[in-house]
Amino acid sequence: MKKALALTLAAAMALSLAACSGGDTTTSESTASTGTSEAATSDAAATTTSGEVANKDKPLVWFNRQPSNSSTGELDKAALTFNENTYYVGFDANQGAELQGQMVLDYITANIDTIDQNGDGIIGYVLAIGDIGHNDSIARTRGVRSALGTAVEVDGAINSDPVGTNTDGTATAVQDGTLEVNGKSYVVRELASQEMKNSAGATWDAATAGNAIGTWAASFGDSIDVVVSNNDGMGMSMFNAWSKEKGIPTFGYDANADAVAAIGEGYGGTISQHADVQAYLTLRVIRNALDGVDIDTGIGTADEAGNVLSDDVYKYVEDERSYYALNVAVTKDNYQDFMDSTKVYEPVSNQLDATTHPTKKVWLDIYNSADNFLGSTYQPLLQNYDDLLNLEVEYIAGDGQTEANITNRLSNPSQYDAFAINMVKTDNGASYTALLSQ
Ligand code: BGC
Repeated sequence: MKKALALTLAAAMALSLAACSGGDTTTSESTASTGTSEAATSDAAATTTSGEVANKDKPLVWFNRQPSNSSTGELDKAALTFNENTYYVGFDANQGAELQGQMVLDYITANIDTIDQNGDGIIGYVLAIGDIGHNDSIARTRGVRSALGTAVEVDGAINSDPVGTNTDGTATAVQDGTLEVNGKSYVVRELASQEMKNSAGATWDAATAGNAIGTWAASFGDSIDVVVSNNDGMGMSMFNAWSKEKGIPTFGYDANADAVAAIGEGYGGTISQHADVQAYLTLRVIRNALDGVDIDTGIGTADEAGNVLSDDVYKYVEDERSYYALNVAVTKDNYQDFMDSTKVYEPVSNQLDATTHPTKKVWLDIYNSADNFLGSTYQPLLQNYDDLLNLEVEYIAGDGQTEANITNRLSNPSQYDAFAINMVKTDNGASYTALLSQ
């Protein structure tokens, strides 16, 4: 685990002592429609900067969906190294997945005397899978199976395929686990799992998960002792549709505000992926690149306003060009501390000076306007940080299904100083870099 190393940025960015740096007049956060930018002459700073730097050389940050092969997980190094100011910002998927699995296991162990609803000696769980081609989703499925002893390895990696229905324990993608508690032995079984994709193709789909739990409960409800989900959007949908009323512990991921609050009402727990740190990093690396300063500024090294992150909340892996926030388990023991999921992280909450960090324009998209985590947690955080960092961000909302719906709205990259991209599919990095290379 390496800390951010000093990377000297080529001075490709003009050191602009921007003529019009008064941030207040240009901070409107619009949901973009194509090509409606104000007349070029009215914004000298943006025009000058954009005019001098080729789009292919502008800072580019991928976030939340890491450029990678959705079948193998292999990183798309071409996208990650598109230019010298290209980075990915996400979180440590494996560390978080392990935490989620451990949290579920700890809960089962601590509540072993009451958890087995039908007393058959089998602790049955169902699993909502977000996107079978998304590395965060794959990691979480593996983490849960690994902790609960239900994992099956294929070629050295845990199988993360959905099983459909497995009430009889014969599925080959998983196995029955065994758990010894207080001298008694229990079987742990993944009764069912499914990718929650709607008919239009949107993944991590909360409504689909709400329907799935209804179907599962109707046919083998008494066997379900635990509900697990790859995220809180789907987890809360299942909790509200069924498990809350039944008193069945339900576990998610993301620490969205509604899920954290629900811990007080029986939601089993969630994982904070430190979205407050990720949203900061997403915009901070852009800020640093545009300022032409060391990329570690305000990250591992304090900036002049006092913003700095400590090692326990993130790591930087240089050969992946990736910043990863670290995760924290949120359970009934600590959930009160996580109630406000859109609050900026205090150590990086200081406003930058607008004369030395003049306003710059950033194009940023969210792949799916209906994604609970990105919509209710991540974007509000970005909107808090963009002010602190003097970035005028244009937020583009995708439909979660078609990349073109988003790329069509990147028709004039010359109007922006930098780009932050959240892809529909992790394989599609080239759809964006092609537009920036034109
Ligand atoms: C989040 C999910 C979200 C997905 C979208 C994941 O990191 O945990 O909640 O739906 O990203 O890409």
